[in-house]
Amino acid sequence: MAKSIPTPKGPTSLRALRALRREHSVLAALEVFNRELGDIFRFTLPGFKPVMLVGPEAARMVLVSSRDDLRWRNEADPVTLLLRHGVLVEDGDAHDRLRRTMNPALHKQMLNNYAAAMVRGTDQIVQQWRDDEPRDMLVEMRRVALLILMETLYRVDFSPELDRLWSAILKTLQFISPGLWILWPGIPRPGYERALRQMDDYLYQIIRLRRACLGETDDLLGGLIAAGLDDDLIRDQLLTMLIAGHDTSTALLSWALYLLGQHPPAMSQAQNEVDSVLAGQTPTLEHAAHLHYLGQVIDEALRLYPPIHLGSRVAAVDLPFQGYTIPAGTRVMYSIYLTHRQPAYWDEPGAFRPERFAPGQPRPQPYTYLPFGGGPRNCIGAAFAQVETKLVLARILQQVELAALPKPVYAHMGATLEPRPGVPMRVKRRL
Ligand code: HEM
Repeated sequence: MAKSIPTPKGPTSLRALRALRREHSVLAALEVFNRELGDIFRFTLPGFKPVMLVGPEAARMVLVSSRDDLRWRNEADPVTLLLRHGVLVEDGDAHDRLRRTMNPALHKQMLNNYAAAMVRGTDQIVQQWRDDEPRDMLVEMRRVALLILMETLYRVDFSPELDRLWSAILKTLQFISPGLWILWPGIPRPGYERALRQMDDYLYQIIRLRRACLGETDDLLGGLIAAGLDDDLIRDQLLTMLIAGHDTSTALLSWALYLLGQHPPAMSQAQNEVDSVLAGQTPTLEHAAHLHYLGQVIDEALRLYPPIHLGSRVAAVDLPFQGYTIPAGTRVMYSIYLTHRQPAYWDEPGAFRPERFAPGQPRPQPYTYLPFGGGPRNCIGAAFAQVETKLVLARILQQVELAALPKPVYAHMGATLEPRPGVPMRVKRRL
């Protein structure tokens, strides 16, 4: 007979609650559950009884061996209401067709075309920073990431819209962030209509404009039009990529700067490397390939604070795992965050140690390091994001010195894992 899936009881729940209050983060509570209950556990909140899976065996099952028995689409989720038929919330053939259509625009070969826009987007924001002023890097990196995404994938200059659509974008992200709707799926959620309408108006407008002057078609928007998709389906992909492609980079960039700010020797080492590799030139894809230490800092930031900290699915059939049975219809989550911090696979898992990714160090064991997921539905933008992060950070470190301002930060589970309430840093211009 199948064993029953462990659920937190009295003392474990108490310790989890204490961890939550101490660290202001649900993740700290989940760490207690993982430590005390193992790599599969279930929490039972009213209306919400997901099974959480942790570790390489679970990741391999969710991402590869049982992936066809798990669905991404969940009609009741706000993310499905928002993205409608976006690639992120489709299954089967519908997903595969969309993914094939979008792959070319995110292929490694395209990165050379995008590198200059990545640096340009950074410059547009960094040039607004004045000497000796504090800036919140969570806000600044969102601005950079939005400009880059819109210019590379949709060939649109987003700078005139940045302020106008700023609150609509934040509100849209809030709509899909964890909230009371998880416990109470039918809860009325007023106040979002205006923001969502504003986003739609803008996206349909750029589709119309592109249709009116069909030219180059090798960007993402051009590819979707050339593939014959109708405006609604294109809007769904544009919104999907806008959200999946900028909120993640925002989180990664701001966590990387936060970690560098907390570790001045690492900041100096990264800055020295940037100075010697760039030698005063504008960063290019070629330079990015030589920024090895910066790459390790990024890898370590992704390990400690993976922007997508869990993957969520619904079991389509009864699923066996380690002698347990996860019943069909259960919400199944695999935790990237907890997997990245398991002492069985990582020395001093809570410590910031970029050297663990240095050449010559043992590579992480399979499925223990999953910042971009894995299997056939891994992140379509992984190569884009890795180059983007390196170029943006290199350009920033080349132009300014940044010092952390003493404000506590906690990992907030929004649409991505964000450093909240922000990453205030003092800017000192170097050039
Ligand atoms: C630091 C940056 C990024 C991180 C950490 C990240 C992480 C991830 C992860 C973990 C998944 C798989 C989730 C799961 O298994 O449930 C994923 C999927 C996805 N990502 Fe990213 N991502 C990043 C950047 C991007 C960018 C730049 C884009 C687009 C331009 C993008 C678009 C997508 C899409 C569309 C999917 C779904 C793919 C599919 O289902 O076929 N991501 N991402």
